[in-house]
Amino acid sequence: QPLKTLAQVTALAGALASFSVLAEPVEIKFSHVVAENTPKGQMALKFKALVEERLPGEYQVSVFPNSQLFGDNNELAALLLNDVQLVAPSLSKFERYTKKLQLFDLPFLFKDMAAVDKFQQSEAGQKLLNSMKRKGVVGLGYLHNGMKQFSANEPLLLPKDASGKKFRVMASDVLAAQFAAVDATAVKKPFSEVFTLLQTRAIDGQENTWSNIYSKKFFEVQSHITESNHGVLDYMVVTSNTFWKSLPGDKRKIIKEALDEAIAYGNKIAGDKNDQDRQLIIDSKRSLVVELTPEQRQAWVDAMKPVWAKFEDQIGKDVIDAAVAANQ
Ligand code: LMR
Repeated sequence: QPLKTLAQVTALAGALASFSVLAEPVEIKFSHVVAENTPKGQMALKFKALVEERLPGEYQVSVFPNSQLFGDNNELAALLLNDVQLVAPSLSKFERYTKKLQLFDLPFLFKDMAAVDKFQQSEAGQKLLNSMKRKGVVGLGYLHNGMKQFSANEPLLLPKDASGKKFRVMASDVLAAQFAAVDATAVKKPFSEVFTLLQTRAIDGQENTWSNIYSKKFFEVQSHITESNHGVLDYMVVTSNTFWKSLPGDKRKIIKEALDEAIAYGNKIAGDKNDQDRQLIIDSKRSLVVELTPEQRQAWVDAMKPVWAKFEDQIGKDVIDAAVAANQ
């Protein structure tokens, strides 16, 4: 039956327009600061694939890596404005929202990633996911990167080798105190600026995981990397209470399951990724990877561990004890 009247045509056009509005998928923006070829980068892409496979046409995930959309200085503020719906800052970057997560920055707290994982899955660890609820930030899960290493333009074998040098740190008072403990200067800078700061020698060194040192080419502008494994760099995947509550219950459940699976995937590849990138750095011969003797490592422990006491009140002794117990 051909359409006859203008009224019929207008009605049909109206129906199509409202249908297309209804059919527009909801966009979930996931912004992060690292390269795609990292545990976090891969986890974000896995989440996108799972959501779009399970809620086709209804939800769409846009991933923005490399501080393209938001960087360290504004991603949490953007989350609370609902300009982005998911971010996964390192646990060192939540200081303005809670002091509890400073726990993870305490130097030489965890003996390895298995201990980190054990603590995160424990009751005390899971409780910390809720530590920013009153600020409107909802913790959805922990994501691993790995242990941090020191890098500089000279070999750092003993704490005195760091003395007088300038190191970039994430925006964390614990990390600043960690470097102050070895008479070094810490400068808090966003991740996106680290390469240039190192290249121009505005700073002498930094601390990071193998996958970040490799993917952001820090090893090309640092002559030595000390395999110190002195601290952990992990993430909390967070959303805003506003966005999370706006999701229909059944969709939220599917999205949370997709996220849990993506996190499990990211956690599974994180160890291998760091091992591979460590080897690629060694093979490149651009930077020398320095191993510490047990005595040398102990000297760093002795110099840096007193930092714990300064933050014990803010973090809570019970939480620190629970983390230490995860080393057993
Ligand atoms: C850093 O700023 O060094 C890291 O937190 C970057 C990241 O997200 O892994």
